[in-house]
Amino acid sequence: MRRFIARAASGVAALAVTALATPPPAAADEVVIGGNEIKVSESPWVVALSSRARFGGTRAGQFCGGVVVSATQVLTAAHCLRPEVLGMDVAKVSDLKVIVGRTELRSTEGQEVAVKSARTNPGYNPTTNAGDLAVLTLATELPATTTPIPVAAAGDPGYQAGTRAMIYGWGDTSGRGNYPTTLHAGPVTVLSDASCERAYPPKSDEPYEASTMLCAGDPKGGHDACQGDSGGPLVAGGKLIGLVSWGNGCALPDYPGVYTRVAAVPWTAVAAG
Ligand code: ARG
Repeated sequence: MRRFIARAASGVAALAVTALATPPPAAADEVVIGGNEIKVSESPWVVALSSRARFGGTRAGQFCGGVVVSATQVLTAAHCLRPEVLGMDVAKVSDLKVIVGRTELRSTEGQEVAVKSARTNPGYNPTTNAGDLAVLTLATELPATTTPIPVAAAGDPGYQAGTRAMIYGWGDTSGRGNYPTTLHAGPVTVLSDASCERAYPPKSDEPYEASTMLCAGDPKGGHDACQGDSGGPLVAGGKLIGLVSWGNGCALPDYPGVYTRVAAVPWTAVAAG
């Protein structure tokens, strides 16, 4: 079963979360999974999304990732903004904060920036997660230390099978619900559409759709994004090629992570609404 759910609300035995979560995968070893701690200054376009509603209104916490594409715009996964994930209607953007420049989530470094508007890709399909992209427009400009990342265009060499790419996030490092408080990054390899389709056959109930998705992983398992990393960047050659979207379990050998193919979604048009 596909895992939709962003970071599980630790402590809060979350409602939708338990309903949608699958049993923990058998074989995941470490971090992002199989990654290392890094400082956000080394990847200054990585942001954390935080919400209070997501944690039952008791506290604000990180629940998804995002990536800065201009001084006032952040891309994330559309599924991060779904009411069943967020615990509220996305119209209430006043609950959302974009946290920039904060490697350690328990610290006060960096800034929490308010969101002015959130727009989900009209082509997003919540059943298959095709086109899983949303654009957050910020209420204020980001500090100069938070630099945007260029977004790959269709045909970017980063999309070729075999490309080494990096993933970033504050998500589960074990596949068993171990949420770090510091940013992690890890390497994955971009896979061919044919191997993505072997893992997630087009006619199955979790179809891989090459037109708006790409997949990446580690054929041996052990390197992957996981719950809580959603919306965060997949980067190759200094460009944004994907957003963490979904996968069967985390870091399992035969099940790569699936990412939104950002070059295939006209995010500037999504932002313009
Ligand atoms: N849906 C998850 C989230 O909301 C991301 C899952 C990614 N899974 C994977 N195996 N790469 O955080």
